[in-house]
Amino acid sequence: MTEKLIISGGKQLSGEVSISGAKNAVLKLMAATLLAKDVSKIYNVPELTDVTIMLSVLGQLGAKTSYDKVEKSVTIDTRELTSIVAGYEFVSRMRASFIVLGALVGRCKEAMVALPGGCAIGERRVDFHIRGLESLGATIKIENGYVHAQAKKLEGTDIYLDIPSVGATENLMLAAVLAEGSTRIQNAAQEPEIVDLANFLNTMGADVNGAGTSEILINGVKPESLHGVEYTTIPDRIEAGTYMAAIIGTRGKGIIQNVNPSHLTFYTSKLTQMGAKIKLIAPNAFEVSCNQRLKALNIVTQPYPGFPTDLQSLGMALLSVADGVSIITESLYENRFMQVPELRKMGADIHQERNHALIKGVEKLSGANLRASDLRAGAALVLAALMAEGYSTIEELHHIDRGYELLVPKMRALGANIDRISDEIDIVADKVRGNLNGTTKI
Ligand code: EPU
Repeated sequence: MTEKLIISGGKQLSGEVSISGAKNAVLKLMAATLLAKDVSKIYNVPELTDVTIMLSVLGQLGAKTSYDKVEKSVTIDTRELTSIVAGYEFVSRMRASFIVLGALVGRCKEAMVALPGGCAIGERRVDFHIRGLESLGATIKIENGYVHAQAKKLEGTDIYLDIPSVGATENLMLAAVLAEGSTRIQNAAQEPEIVDLANFLNTMGADVNGAGTSEILINGVKPESLHGVEYTTIPDRIEAGTYMAAIIGTRGKGIIQNVNPSHLTFYTSKLTQMGAKIKLIAPNAFEVSCNQRLKALNIVTQPYPGFPTDLQSLGMALLSVADGVSIITESLYENRFMQVPELRKMGADIHQERNHALIKGVEKLSGANLRASDLRAGAALVLAALMAEGYSTIEELHHIDRGYELLVPKMRALGANIDRISDEIDIVADKVRGNLNGTTKI
């Protein structure tokens, strides 16, 4: 049975929303537990399909795992591993599972991890991960769609990344923790999720320095120095950015709780330039409001601390109704404008040329039947539907479920008219309306 969102747009959002733990941090912390032969507990873990997939990957390797829905915690017992294989059935569903490669090579000196391949938003190669592991001393073979890594021992070295890849930085950090000697990762990614991983590893007994800068130094430690930890992950900056956009785009006023403001500096400065008001009302809370039409501006996505690619689609939805012409340049992924055809259905005036999008702001969007193509494009459609006049439906919700915990209740708490319904209910609703033939008209 498929499900869809039904959104009646045009309502100004107001109230409070609390941000969940960061998906893109917690998945890596879960993989990092593999390094210590012990039990670890991670708090502030969002209930998302990606977290479930990572638990399955760890389970396949022999770890004993459990998720406590009430406490929002995962417990992972990695004292005994029974396999070094992370199968295609999981990696193909979630590329982030590729992160277990570094941890497994570090601990077991051997790993077989399925190659993720491309995905909807781009080619997303893993060559930096592989080259980095090779320079640490691993022999890598690509066999039947799997990366087979083996090493007698790993030895610290200098690694330079061509671009500051988040995943490669994390995979190599994990592999280097148990290597002999020191590893220096240059041109490292500086995202808050990298800092969270380094803090987690150091709490486990590792020796990682410089995370959050472009050079990370990992001094290898002995396996017996590592132990299980209890750790709380950071708030999800992309989820926070999404709710900020929803309040601003509907010209509402609301409070975003449990956020780390320093993780969103560039984004908030752009929203302010658009005409939003953003006030820090507590160390971990913003008050966000907007009472005017947004102003056009240009956005170029960049690695952290630049404008996050994961919020680009949200920026585009906002600018589609801003006063004037904006240009968005997506510089990280080849194909991250999947929201464009859907926004056009709603009346947006967007011209796309390779990785540039020219957006002529229109007065209003109108509701339409929409389809999410990936996680962040899906979030942009939710935002557009909230801003639009009339009803919208959004299908392919499994994309959105990967990254937004409790989306419907959280949006409803802000006053949004949003429902999640199954097709079956939809058919009944159609029958009631005497709308029996053809596609759903709402
Ligand atoms: N790249 C290579 N070779 C590599 C690694 C990366 O060419 O070996 C390229 C990629 O193809 C891409 C660019 O480098 O064009 C950046 O990729 P990066 O490795 O930094 O991204 P990632 O680790 O695969 C994480 C997030 C993404 C987020 C990016 C950038 C997770 C699970 N995913 O991906 O989040 O967009 O960093 O910030 O942490 C999302 O949450 O929707 C999402 C896609």
